[in-house]
Amino acid sequence: MRISVTLVQYEHGILRQALDVLDETVRNNSEDHMDDVKELISFLHEFVDRFHHAKEEQLFYPVIVKEFPRFQEEVDGIYAEHQHAREQFQLVERALEEGDWDSMASAASELVHHMTSHVQKEEDGIFPVVDDELSLPLDEQLNQAYQVFTSEFGDDYYQRAEMFANDIQDRLLGPGFFNHGIY
Ligand SMILES: [Fe+2]
Ligand SMILES: [Fe+2]
Repeated sequence: MRISVTLVQYEHGILRQALDVLDETVRNNSEDHMDDVKELISFLHEFVDRFHHAKEEQLFYPVIVKEFPRFQEEVDGIYAEHQHAREQFQLVERALEEGDWDSMASAASELVHHMTSHVQKEEDGIFPVVDDELSLPLDEQLNQAYQVFTSEFGDDYYQRAEMFANDIQDRLLGPGFFNHGIY
């Protein structure tokens, strides 16, 4: 086990939960929840793009490509998928600004689909290898860099993100909607 992998997987848990809530909400066509959906999208845009993907691109993957050059092509594909997610967030936000629920719902469900398969690809492909083979000193170096990066998002960022995901889930879907474990 490597902490550098465990932490990004933990982030996947939070973003999966928030994406599941978005997916259920747009499927149920809950147009009267527009304000909550705006809040959810704004959380996801920060947590997925500015936090998680930025951390992977600035810290995690540069070390991985250097240590495991065989992953170069796969990492190039991962970066292209991050870019695609950025473009999808813009489409969702534009539709929200225009108050166009149907366009928002279709862009949001594409975003959910894209991100779900992206996260699965990372967890099935690169992560298990890194979890087995990354040297402990490099793992510790990454962990320290993560701490500096995460502190820029304010105190208790993980705790606040988890609380937000639980709260928006209760607001949009009702308490106890997902009776399976999220992580
Ligand atoms: Fe990623
Ligand atoms: Fe990721």
